[in-house]
Amino acid sequence: MYLDLTDEGNKINIYSQLVGGITPRPIAWVSTVDSDGAANIAPYSFFTVASVNPPVLSVTQVNPSDNKNKDTLNNLLATKECVINVVSHELVEQMNQSCGNYPSQVSEFAAVGIEATASQVVKPLSVAAAKVRYECRLREVITISKQPAGGQMMLLDVVGVFIDDNVLIDGYIDPDVLNTVGKMGGNEFATTQQLFSLIRPEL
Ligand SMILES: Cc1cc2nc3c(=O)[nH]c(=O)nc-3n(C[C@H](O)[C@H](O)[C@H](O)COP(=O)(O)O)c2cc1C
Repeated sequence: MYLDLTDEGNKINIYSQLVGGITPRPIAWVSTVDSDGAANIAPYSFFTVASVNPPVLSVTQVNPSDNKNKDTLNNLLATKECVINVVSHELVEQMNQSCGNYPSQVSEFAAVGIEATASQVVKPLSVAAAKVRYECRLREVITISKQPAGGQMMLLDVVGVFIDDNVLIDGYIDPDVLNTVGKMGGNEFATTQQLFSLIRPEL
């Protein structure tokens, strides 16, 4: 099968064709604050490293059907800061609960019972149990589309990184200790429990 996307009819299931094939996706558990200081946290799997020098991460909001921005984007536009908490396997239940459509003034930290800790240089709280946390400031928002399901990509300058000492072996993050999870299509998730190595060719 080949989906020619110049044929409008083939776009009907494009969401599932995108999230089912682009897998596994890392999960950014993004904590922010609004302009009154109210805390927010939500998971985003349209997430990756966008640049190393300077260090920049990207997180994309898929616009809701009512076309109102999600709290994360609103808060970033208002207060410019966030923490990207890395999701280890033991955090999946809390991470998943935090994606509920809570009213803006309700903190998912309190509603879900996520233990928080102060961040080093940004106002948003960090997840105490997250072993790696990237403290970020908003660089820019690239609006790909304001339509429902359109993307608004938040580019985030990394200003500091917390790494639990237990995760570091010889200065490198040990994947077995970090034990991250990934997002697949539908309701499926992947673990990182079966790793293998490949040596790059020297040409
Ligand atoms: C694992 C997971 C990954 C998600 N990834 C995204 C994403 O990349 N983009 C997005 O707009 N919503 C994503 N969502 C849905 C948001 O988390 C959800 O809309 C949430 O209510 C947004 O919260 P906020 O309004 O506090 O930002 C994801 C949900 C889950 C459980």
